[in-house]
Amino acid sequence: MNEQILQIFEENPDHFISGEELSRRLSCSRTAVWKHIQDLRKQGYEFEAVSRLGYRLVRKPDKIDLKKLSALLNTKTLGRDVHYFESVLSTQMSAHDMVASGAKEGTLIIAEQQTAGRGRMGRKWHSPLGKGIWMSLILAPRIPIHFAPQLTLLIAVALCRAIKQKYPMDVGIKWPNDLLVGGRKISGILLESSAEDERLRHVIAGIGISANLLQEDYPPELWDKATSLSIESGQVIDRELLIAAFLNELEALYDLYHEQGFAPLRILWEALNVTLHRPVKVHTHDGVVEGLAESIDDLGGLNVRLPDGRVVILYSGENDTPYKA
Ligand code: BTN
Repeated sequence: MNEQILQIFEENPDHFISGEELSRRLSCSRTAVWKHIQDLRKQGYEFEAVSRLGYRLVRKPDKIDLKKLSALLNTKTLGRDVHYFESVLSTQMSAHDMVASGAKEGTLIIAEQQTAGRGRMGRKWHSPLGKGIWMSLILAPRIPIHFAPQLTLLIAVALCRAIKQKYPMDVGIKWPNDLLVGGRKISGILLESSAEDERLRHVIAGIGISANLLQEDYPPELWDKATSLSIESGQVIDRELLIAAFLNELEALYDLYHEQGFAPLRILWEALNVTLHRPVKVHTHDGVVEGLAESIDDLGGLNVRLPDGRVVILYSGENDTPYKA
């Protein structure tokens, strides 16, 4: 029924259609029409309602256009097989299922909405419909398991470079892999991996980018911590353009990494980070570490100098240091 209503509005662009006419053409009650309109509103359709005139379709929800995405890609592997969903629990979960059924490297899972989006350290990831880029990428890097932290940094570099290329703004990487604008988070990355014989078998890179969220799309408790590319740039973010830029950038860096190792990636990460040479406070599984972030080591770990002069190396953790420019 929703499709039939939409068809009527699409045949009459910019026109008001009365509830009475809709109920006649759809052979249902006015109450049923109203319920369908409410349903469509929940899916992101915007209607103007004027008494005596009826309803006018003002805006359709922004949906990721896979044909457009494919035309913008210049990759060989990444994003060549895309699974698109209107709504999922979490694209990470879908990706794990696909790995189990033999999905190839480069397979991308994208959803308009996640109802149980996962963040790092067991947190939830707020993923409203049609507003962000919620995606998981399946990788099969040919590296030993203890190199996994390098991959985290590599993905953050690719994403940061892609954003800067398409929407020039001051984006920085907060160790290990949050992207910030003006001290507030615009993107988070979650890496989940499986290994066999000390080598990585699969990595599922979950990437959340707050593209077109407005302030009212966030719960109030996130207002001072999170922002979106759209809020910061003042323009609507072209999601296909950004996804393609990211995959193009990532494939080039991923190839470079397999050819030349971590050294060139470390230089790129250092150029984009907002963590080094500043105080950090990191929550790890073994407790809180506070000190000065000194450098990135050969494996991708963060060297932190403690107040007593000792240095500890962190490979993961929650860095809750507030960033000040
Ligand atoms: C973080 O805590 O900063 C990581 C957030 C990762 C969110 C993305 S959105 C797509 C993918 N699916 C999920 O459930 N989580 C990741």
